[in-house]
Amino acid sequence: MARQINVHLKASIDRSYQIAINPKVLADMASVLSRKWMGRSVFIITDSIVSGLYGQRLQNDLTDSGFEVILVDFPSGEQSKNASVIHALHTQLLTNSIRRNSLIIALGGGVVGDVAGYVAATILRGVKFIQVPTTLLSQVDSSVGGKVGIDHPLGKNLIGAFHQPSAVFIDPTVLKTLSEKEFRNGLAEVVKIAAALDISFFSFIERNARKITRTNVKLLSEIIRRSVALKAAVVEKDEHESGIRKVLNLGHTIGHALEAASNYSLKHGEAVSLGIVAESRLAVKLGLLREVDYKRVVKLLTTLKLPTRIPQIKNKTKFFRTLGTDKKSEGAQNMFVLLNGIGKSAIGVEVPMELIARAIFQRNGA
Ligand SMILES: NC(=O)c1ccc[n+]([C@@H]2O[C@H](COP(=O)([O-])OP(=O)(O)OC[C@H]3O[C@@H](n4cnc5c(N)ncnc54)[C@H](O)[C@@H]3O)[C@@H](O)[C@H]2O)c1
Ligand SMILES: [Zn+2]
Repeated sequence: MARQINVHLKASIDRSYQIAINPKVLADMASVLSRKWMGRSVFIITDSIVSGLYGQRLQNDLTDSGFEVILVDFPSGEQSKNASVIHALHTQLLTNSIRRNSLIIALGGGVVGDVAGYVAATILRGVKFIQVPTTLLSQVDSSVGGKVGIDHPLGKNLIGAFHQPSAVFIDPTVLKTLSEKEFRNGLAEVVKIAAALDISFFSFIERNARKITRTNVKLLSEIIRRSVALKAAVVEKDEHESGIRKVLNLGHTIGHALEAASNYSLKHGEAVSLGIVAESRLAVKLGLLREVDYKRVVKLLTTLKLPTRIPQIKNKTKFFRTLGTDKKSEGAQNMFVLLNGIGKSAIGVEVPMELIARAIFQRNGA
């Protein structure tokens, strides 16, 4: 008698998707969706700010096109990335009779994308969803790649899933209503992508740094297109982050620890900017990066008005604890992604805690 049964599972579904980037995306969305999704109920999940700015209009457009649409929102901000918000959304969607063939639209910044994506990944064991990112950070980074999830009191983004969107609709004109601070935040992820992967893109940003504004739609479209293309190419090679996708964590190992140690008073992009600086410093100390390239990175972040001087860390215990629990660290040693030139990165570099402490606290004059 056979003592073992093998379950053969081969990936059989093509989960490829398209990313549309143009200034008419939002206005045209209802007619584009009606071609493919008509007959399904639609749930727009957004936050309390984006709802009034773009959510109600999208709901009206979709309703006019013949869709049955429910719009739900939750309070804007990182503190909404928690289990009780997820539970409340599950309840709202279930009470409104969501079905497995319904469509969820994540309309908002990275927080909405992560939360709505996680709801889509989990409700009824997974329904399809579309990303409509409305912050620069979400347009260049978080809306592509399928990582969704929430924070846990023990650390950021520790609970989640991989759930790829069925499409991504990026409209750079929505950035005109974004605050200057949030806009700058997104630029940190742009610098991360360019520094980690593509020196010619990095030089392009250097050349245009002073012209990058929320309303320069032409330049923004180019920056978003190049960032997304680079990220998509990495995701195609390594969807579940077992190798090359880790390059996108540049600046994030220290960045996350700084974010947590500040009790999230530092915005994600600010923390990433500081993380890129600190990790580049480590790269110089380890002989991977030339001092001149380190200075180039710092100069670009400064020109883009991003922070480069690490503020006093009050909660050092939390900083080091987060470094330890960061989901990217494997085992006791901290595995870093470090630049070994602009546009080139080394993955899985072990960095002794002592060196990290010196790189971080020296900059505070300690
Ligand atoms: N899943 C991923 O791959 C990935 C990658 C990077 C970052 N993230 C996550 O993304 C989150 C940060 O995203 P974020 O910076 O977009 O923050 P966010 O979603 O909180 O948006 C920032 C603020 O801007 C407001 N807003 C959004 N769009 C607007 C618009 N067009 N006009 C005016 N206001 C607008 C929001 O209401 C919010 O108050 C973090 O939680 C981070 O962990 C995820
Ligand atoms: Zn990030």
